[in-house]
Amino acid sequence: MRAMAMPRYGGPETLTLMELPDPKVAPGEVLVRVEAAGINPVDWKMSAGGLDPIMVAHFPLIPGWDVAGVVAGNGLDSPEFAPGDEVFGYIRKDSAECGAYAEQVAVPVRMLARKPRALSWAQTAGLPLAGLTALQAADRVGATTGDTVLVHAAAGGVGSLATQILTARGARVIGTAGPANHDFLRGLGAEPVAYGPGLADRVRALAPDGVDAALDFVGGEAIDVSVELLRSPARLASVADHRAAVVGGHYVWVRPDAPGLVTLAALADEGRLTVFVDKVLPLHQAAEAWRLNAGGHTRGKLVLAVGLGGES
Ligand SMILES: NC(=O)c1ccc[n+]([C@@H]2O[C@H](COP(=O)([O-])OP(=O)(O)OC[C@H]3O[C@@H](n4cnc5c(N)ncnc54)[C@H](OP(=O)(O)O)[C@@H]3O)[C@@H](O)[C@H]2O)c1
Repeated sequence: MRAMAMPRYGGPETLTLMELPDPKVAPGEVLVRVEAAGINPVDWKMSAGGLDPIMVAHFPLIPGWDVAGVVAGNGLDSPEFAPGDEVFGYIRKDSAECGAYAEQVAVPVRMLARKPRALSWAQTAGLPLAGLTALQAADRVGATTGDTVLVHAAAGGVGSLATQILTARGARVIGTAGPANHDFLRGLGAEPVAYGPGLADRVRALAPDGVDAALDFVGGEAIDVSVELLRSPARLASVADHRAAVVGGHYVWVRPDAPGLVTLAALADEGRLTVFVDKVLPLHQAAEAWRLNAGGHTRGKLVLAVGLGGES
């Protein structure tokens, strides 16, 4: 099969289109024919060696923890899915080797759920990692109906989904983004504020008594501003800055979670959640996708087309 893979740790230029053996499918796994793979910042951070202290990597390493595709075969004792089923998943395993930037990937059934009917393949590929991150961060701080929640980096992959999940729960969302994304945030149901110096004052102008909870998807000043505005730091969750735990909040590392995927798919099929795809690139342009994402201003999600005629 064809895959974009890393012969060693490195930057985007190290990604290489390779012909590799088809995946082995272990017991409890299914083989997925990949239609689309989502891009996440962790893909290029890990491929540069950023997770080396905490995760074993085998080379050639195929990046990609977000997959949407069709079941093409079953490993031993994997009755949950059958060939032809349309599925999606956040497919992080304990070590890094065989990811979704490939024509096929073997995936444990506990990491998969059925594709939402309301979303395209590209939208579906953008949903699992970012959607589960949003869900798990919101749950960690108990963000729910009636809360005023400050969401930092609300226009990005995780933030745009968190905003919609919170709005669907009946929370009020104040979201940070650059001015060019303020109409986009209004469309998601958030009240936008610009990040940068004076952020706490701008949030206070909208919420004079401060906020009930804060979700941080960027780090840095977001932590200090959140502590200033929260009644309790215990209702701060960050996925981008370990200082969240130091100040009394939570640092969250997203876990694979099939029931969470089912929740996300249901929200999408009920019309309460959608995935904004900034750009779809063909698999062989994965390096370009990484460069775009590393620029720090992706709106919604970047996705690689693998089937879909994207790699004809
Ligand atoms: N720990 C975990 O489990 C976990 C899981 C997922 C993601 N993450 C991390 O969380 C971060 C966000 O991930 P993502 O996928 O959402 O990234 P992303 O989609 O690439 O985020 C891009 C967004 O960040 C916004 N942004 C840039 N600088 C900002 C600032 N100073 N303040 C507020 N917004 C800013 C941009 O808005 P403008 O264009 O308007 O500036 C853009 O919309 C990354 O660092 C990622 O590695 C961690």
